[in-house]
Amino acid sequence: SLPSLSSLISGPALLPIIQADSAAQAVQIAKAMQQGGISAVEVVLRTAAALDGISAIRQQCPDLLVGAGTVLSKADADNCKNAGAQFLVSPASTPALLQAMIDTGLAMAPGVSTSSEVAMALEMGLTELKFFPAHLSGGTEMLKALSGIYQQVRFCPTGGIAQHNLADYLSLSNVFVVGGSWISPAALVKAGDWQQITDLAAAAVAVAQR
Ligand code: 3PG
Repeated sequence: SLPSLSSLISGPALLPIIQADSAAQAVQIAKAMQQGGISAVEVVLRTAAALDGISAIRQQCPDLLVGAGTVLSKADADNCKNAGAQFLVSPASTPALLQAMIDTGLAMAPGVSTSSEVAMALEMGLTELKFFPAHLSGGTEMLKALSGIYQQVRFCPTGGIAQHNLADYLSLSNVFVVGGSWISPAALVKAGDWQQITDLAAAAVAVAQR
């Protein structure tokens, strides 16, 4: 059976997104996040540099868990594994995509936003799921509703989560980690303001640890 993503995340229950235009930039973001206390990051496949970024972070940040996000196809899943990704995250789920992700043998959190999608993932033996887009899909109230029905499922909500509502999500018993882009806003990345990214990471870590 596959390793679980939750068992791989050793530090705070946070999984910030890295979207970078170069491998070097991805490493700088990762190091800034790590400096703020983050232990796991998700490099999203939304730029041409994503796969190189994953490989570079694996090499240069050995204590950081690094996975791939925005996995949309079997090719994405295979490419991410070859690049050294330690887990896979997708925004959505189809039977073919889930099977391709399972076949990599990596830990994974496929995206769902409805009860039926949770049921499909469960049929394939998956119990750790991304809830996306969390805020638009009913937020914490939806997660509470799902908790009564799917008692064995735990979620990584992302989408519309930031410092102001992070604690609401982390307080739920069926949330094992929270993700999002708020720790590395595009403007800070563009400006190379790594210290601000470290500060945002540290603020989130403070919430996750209380
Ligand atoms: C994701 O890939 O999970 C989303 O981009 C996160 O959404 P956010 O940008 O609202 O945090």
